[in-house]
Amino acid sequence: MNISIIGTGYVGLTTGVCLAYLGHDVCCVDTDAKKVETLKAGRSPIYEPHLEDLMALASDRLRFTTCYPEAIPDSEVVFIAVGTPPEPDGKPDLRYLRAAAQSAAENLGAGFTVMVNKSTVPIGSGNWVESLVRSAIRERNSDRFAVASNPEFLREGSAIRDSLYPDRIVIGSDSERALETLYTLYRPVLDQTFAAPTFLPRPEELGAVPLVSADLASAELIKYAANAFLALKISYINEISQIAEKVGADITQVAKGIGLDARIGTRFLQPGIGWGGSCFGKDTAALISTAHEYNLTAPIVQAARDINSRQRARVVEKLLAEMKILKGRTVALLGLAFKPHTDDLREAPALEIAKKLIERGARVQAHDPVALDRARAELALPDLCYCDSPEQAMQDADAVVLVTEWPQYLELDWESLRGSMRGAVVLDGRGVLDRKRMEKSGYRFLSMTS
Ligand SMILES: NC(=O)c1ccc[n+]([C@@H]2O[C@H](COP(=O)([O-])OP(=O)(O)OC[C@H]3O[C@@H](n4cnc5c(N)ncnc54)[C@H](O)[C@@H]3O)[C@@H](O)[C@H]2O)c1
Repeated sequence: MNISIIGTGYVGLTTGVCLAYLGHDVCCVDTDAKKVETLKAGRSPIYEPHLEDLMALASDRLRFTTCYPEAIPDSEVVFIAVGTPPEPDGKPDLRYLRAAAQSAAENLGAGFTVMVNKSTVPIGSGNWVESLVRSAIRERNSDRFAVASNPEFLREGSAIRDSLYPDRIVIGSDSERALETLYTLYRPVLDQTFAAPTFLPRPEELGAVPLVSADLASAELIKYAANAFLALKISYINEISQIAEKVGADITQVAKGIGLDARIGTRFLQPGIGWGGSCFGKDTAALISTAHEYNLTAPIVQAARDINSRQRARVVEKLLAEMKILKGRTVALLGLAFKPHTDDLREAPALEIAKKLIERGARVQAHDPVALDRARAELALPDLCYCDSPEQAMQDADAVVLVTEWPQYLELDWESLRGSMRGAVVLDGRGVLDRKRMEKSGYRFLSMTS
C-alpha cells in the first residue's frame, strides 16, 4: 500500500521504517529540513536501537521529504505522528496536529484516503481532524476520506521490537472502510507473516498479535488509560517502598511477592526515582484535564503524579540527609536520558535533579552514553559540567547518583573509581547496584528504598 507519515520523530520514523520493511511504499514528511536531510543520507536523527539497520533494509520503499505534495496525493493511508506537547494547564498543544491535518487535507488525492491519528490526542480529536479536513477540502459530505485512530504503544529504546512484535494493535474508527484498510495494512504484523530481521528475531512465544477494533473515542481513550495505568503502577510501588523503608521491610521482596500474582504482574513494579519521558507526564495531565472538562476528577491519576514528583525531590533530600551540606559539593550524575537505550531528554529526571542540586549550591558533573550532545544543546548552567566518560564525571566528586540504569554503569570498575572521588556517597536511584559490593568497595550506599 502507499502510505504517508507526517512527522519523523520517535513514533513517525519508527512507524514509517517498519511499514516500509513490511513491504509498503512509505513517504515520510517532516517540516524540519535538517532532520529530512539527515534521513535522506540514511542516518537517523534519534538514537534508537536497530532503527538505522532497518532503514537500510527498507530503503527501496522509503522516502523522506519536507514537501506535502510529494507525499500525500497517492496515499491510501496518511498517519499523523506529530508531537502533542503539554500546555501549562495540562491540555495537549494541538497546533502541530492542526497544521498537519490541514496540510494533508490540502493535498488529498482523488482516491479514498484514511487519515490516522497516531499521535496521542485528546478524546474527540478524530472528529476534530475530520472537520478540519472537510473544511479544507470544502466538501461537507465527502466520502474521499475517513478518519481513524491508531494509538501507539512503542517504548523508546525498544521501539522497533515493539512495532514488529507488539502486544496488540488498537484501531478505532466510525468507518468500516477505514477499519478494513488498516486491517489490511497491519495484516503482516497481526499474522506475523513477515521475515524477521536477523538482528531482531521474532520472540519464540509470540503467536498472532491481537487486534482491538473499536470506535474512535474508545481507541483514543485506550491510549490515555493505558499510560495512566502504567504510571500509577510505578507510583504505587514507590509509595509502598516508603512504607517498607519505615517498617524495615525489603521492597525488592515485597515487589516480587506482589508481582508474581498473575493478576498484577512483575513489570513496572521497580521502586526508584520515578517515571520521566515525554509521555506519562503529559498523558496523565491530559487525562485529568479531560475529566475536568466533563466535571469529573481523576484523583488516582493525580496521586500518581504527586508521588512521582515527590520521588525526584527525595533524591536531593537523601543526599542532604547524608552529606548535611550540599553547598560547594560536587555531585556526579550517571545518566541523563529518561531511560536507557534512548537519547530522549524530555521530562528526564536527571535534568530536574541537576537543577535542584545546583539551586542548593552544588556543582554537577553529568554523563550519558548517548544523550550528551542533546543535553549540551538543551540545558546549559554555570555549575553543570557535561563529561565525556563516567570516570570523568566521578573525578573528585563528593557523591554519585545513578539516575539512568544504562548497562555500562553496572559494569564500571566501582572499586577503583572510589579512589578517584573526594567523597564516598553513592545513591542508586534505580535499585540496580549491589549494595554489598558497593559497601565492600568503601562507598556509603544509599538507595531510594532505604
Ligand atoms: N515518543 C514515544 O515514546 C511515544 C510513544 C507513544 C505515543 N507517542 C505520541 O506520538 C506523538 C509523537 O511523539 P514523538 O515522540 O514521535 O514526537 P517528536 O517530537 O519526536 O516528533 C514529532 C515530529 O513531528 C514533526 N512535525 C511537527 N509539525 C509538523 C507538521 N506540521 N508537518 C510535518 N511534520 C511536523 C517535528 O518536526 C518532529 O520531527 C505524540 O503525540 C506522542 O505523545 C510517543
